[in-house]
Amino acid sequence: MGSRKPLIAGNWKMNLTLSQAVELVNAVGTNRAKSDDVDVLVAPPFTFLGAVRQEASAARIFLSAQNMHFEIKGAYTGEISGRMLQDVGCTHVILGHSERRSIFGEKSQTVDLKVKAAVMIGLIPIVCIGESLEEREAEKTFEIIKGQLEGSLQNFLADDKMPRSTIIAYEPVWAIGTGRTATPGQAQEVHAFIRGWIAEKFGKPTSDEIRILYGGSVTPANIKDLMREPDIDGALVGGASLKADTFLPIVNFLAA
Ligand code: PGA
Repeated sequence: MGSRKPLIAGNWKMNLTLSQAVELVNAVGTNRAKSDDVDVLVAPPFTFLGAVRQEASAARIFLSAQNMHFEIKGAYTGEISGRMLQDVGCTHVILGHSERRSIFGEKSQTVDLKVKAAVMIGLIPIVCIGESLEEREAEKTFEIIKGQLEGSLQNFLADDKMPRSTIIAYEPVWAIGTGRTATPGQAQEVHAFIRGWIAEKFGKPTSDEIRILYGGSVTPANIKDLMREPDIDGALVGGASLKADTFLPIVNFLAA
């Protein structure tokens, strides 16, 4: 954790019921540390966004979606646009999560279109990248990360400008939902590489401000050690974000 304000983000994926969602946001709001030293965000499924909006806002919890389409409107059956997300109170959107990439075949090129659309309307993108176990074992981690950054942020490269509010989430695929966390050292190594890439392409002032989250089996037991690393600015939490019992100690890691 450097001088950047930490961000703890909960990615609920396709879980919970509407009443559980409201209850969870309320519980986090009531029991989070009173200081504003840590930003907190939740990314519920689309159908819960409107229902938790008031609670999230009262609890100073940022609201994010887990995905969006890159067009503003039109004949795209089953899709949701960034404008629609803003309409229900979202300030952020997770883009290019590894489950989108691996299960739904989303390519970096598509992620780039979504990032561009999000930024254009003022939604803050949380851009996910990460290598598979196979890629790590073949010592291709940095090559893969570089390729995903170049592919997913093409529009920033073309403009020679990266908005400083952009959030990157490094999520090694082998650590997601597996209980196998990257060691703080392994994560730091990749975070430093990502920050170095941003500095090279967009300059040091930008790279100094961009927050890079770690994701993959983050728990109350490992959050503090991860957050001690200079280039880890927060966490994107999946499984442990679904219950107040496990999410709160992560949100309150500074106070513990
Ligand atoms: P996990 O998921 O914390 O359950 O490993 C993280 C994520 O996919 O964002």
